[in-house]
Amino acid sequence: MIFLVGFILLSIGSALSQITVSVSPTASHPIPTTLWGQMYEVNAGDGGLYAELLQNRAFQQVAAGTSAALKAWYSVNSALLTVVNETEPVSSALPNALKVTVASDATGPVGFGNTGYFGMKFTAGNTYNASFYYRFPENPDFIGELNASLQTSAGNVLASTSVLVAGNQTSWKQVFVSLTPDITPDATDNVFVVTTDGAAASGLTINFAMFSLFPPTFKNRQNGMRIDIAEVSTLQAMKPSFFRFPGGNNLVCRGQNTASRWVWNTTLGHLVDRPGRSGDWGYINTDGLGLLEYLLWCEDLEMEPIMAVWAGYGLGGQSIAEDDLEPYIQSAIDQALFIYIAAARRAELGHPEPFKLTYVEIGNEVRPSLRIGRYGYRWNLYVTALQVEFPNLHFIATTFPFNPILDPTPTEYDVHVYQSSTWMSENSFYYDGFQRNGTKYFEGEYATTKNDQGVFPSTTRSTFQYSTVEAATADAVFMTGFERNADIVFAASYAPLLQVNASFFRTILHPNLVVFDAGAVYPSVSYYVQQLFGFYRGDEYIPSTLPARNGTVFWSVVRKTSVINRNDNATDVTFQLPFNVSNTATVTVLTGAKTSANTPSNPDLVLPQTSSIFTGSTFDYSAPPFSVNVLVLNID
Ligand code: AHR
Repeated sequence: MIFLVGFILLSIGSALSQITVSVSPTASHPIPTTLWGQMYEVNAGDGGLYAELLQNRAFQQVAAGTSAALKAWYSVNSALLTVVNETEPVSSALPNALKVTVASDATGPVGFGNTGYFGMKFTAGNTYNASFYYRFPENPDFIGELNASLQTSAGNVLASTSVLVAGNQTSWKQVFVSLTPDITPDATDNVFVVTTDGAAASGLTINFAMFSLFPPTFKNRQNGMRIDIAEVSTLQAMKPSFFRFPGGNNLVCRGQNTASRWVWNTTLGHLVDRPGRSGDWGYINTDGLGLLEYLLWCEDLEMEPIMAVWAGYGLGGQSIAEDDLEPYIQSAIDQALFIYIAAARRAELGHPEPFKLTYVEIGNEVRPSLRIGRYGYRWNLYVTALQVEFPNLHFIATTFPFNPILDPTPTEYDVHVYQSSTWMSENSFYYDGFQRNGTKYFEGEYATTKNDQGVFPSTTRSTFQYSTVEAATADAVFMTGFERNADIVFAASYAPLLQVNASFFRTILHPNLVVFDAGAVYPSVSYYVQQLFGFYRGDEYIPSTLPARNGTVFWSVVRKTSVINRNDNATDVTFQLPFNVSNTATVTVLTGAKTSANTPSNPDLVLPQTSSIFTGSTFDYSAPPFSVNVLVLNID
């Protein structure tokens, strides 16, 4: 049989001395298939992974009559725009509508436009599917056209189509149009515009509700994901094996009331039936990316869902008393029933087959500063009730392991680590001392957030706006510990995953794995580390000489029963292998100056480079300073 041995060799200092790495002939433990995955969080959905182009598309969770309610909308040719609390709302979930009044002396196209989240990218030949509801509340004597178009910010029309409408349409009617531009504008500050002829419609009022504009989506899913973020260069390329959702803080209700928590069943069904929620990070969640979309996304990428349920507390200190938890626990039970047992509702939504579900996390990140004691009764009541219904599910506790002592004893813990590059590079042995007593660990959030000297400023979450080579190599050192301890660490995900390159959302959480804007995605240096570990994941961990705990060179050896590429090279670290090793192999190196980062202005500064090396049962390899090196050897 042909085996592949992958070495992750990390050098985080410039002073390399000669090191000898002897490799064991036998593996010590299998590496779980779930080891490398992703955590979904803030800034990731609306305006990002979720492909919807229009911002504030349904006037969800805004106060009617305010200028804030018109966010992202603007008037074309002096149309009077107001967000009103509709007397006949388009649905009970969406009480607001856009009231458009055409001036009595209007001429030319009159209407309104939407600027998107931070622009919109339009590409020639792509079809953009637009829809909206309209009605004439005053039943005027009118027959005319509504024109929908894609335009540049300067008003150049890229694609346009008209629909005939009549003033006696006093109830809501939905319109669907397709728009296909034949040029690709250079800029992304494009707009979506709806107008009518001002002279014909002078003095009229038309109400609109629930707009949508979708580009082509990943796997052509209706209401799906943005292709370039989903596929072209980021998430799919990392081969993630699990997806933790619906977020960390995004799950709870930071500083807000219990009513604004993530409620699974209000994220299902027709978009018009989703009220959205005032999210935890200063922007409104449409919930267009809801529970079903998360599950389909997991299916599409063959990821194991790790689903968290709201557990009765918020980061702002809100807390449901023990005696009042029952309806929330029932909601968590119903959520799991929906996913893989109760077929009727799923069938209504087009997916009668059960989804996969193994792991349910109870709440998010209970830290000592957040009244940790309260988690005890929550954990007990949620898990006890859920276990009765779902004896095969695994429940993940979200406290620091062993503190407090929880009953029933958790079989899995989610541990979060945001630390400096020094801490990360000194803690590759973090899990080595953990007891092997059956308990498993999920490193559900980790990132090197600041440099060696960095303090943790109170106003910013981290000192790295974009992950640097220093940060990424420190991530990688910490990650070698997950492979060595993969007998107890079953899953790990860098966090946060996605960040928009704009001041639009609250961006205190950085660095993020992938930065994006309306037109492009910018994988960080840390992203390439995730990609290297994910792509070269092994089936088994092979013990080898241990790195020095406070050293500057780290490595991890895994074996897998499949073949990838190989070639040749040479020095500084001597590997001694008890196998017959072919004399050529491939090495993929991610390296750069310590402070180098991939940024939107220089997105490809640090990229993995693959080359050939000469190998054998004993061979030397020279690792550049601040580098992550994956050596793939062919053995038999
Ligand atoms: O990943 C960003 C946030 O950090 C998560 O939402 C939260 O769990 C943690 O504090």
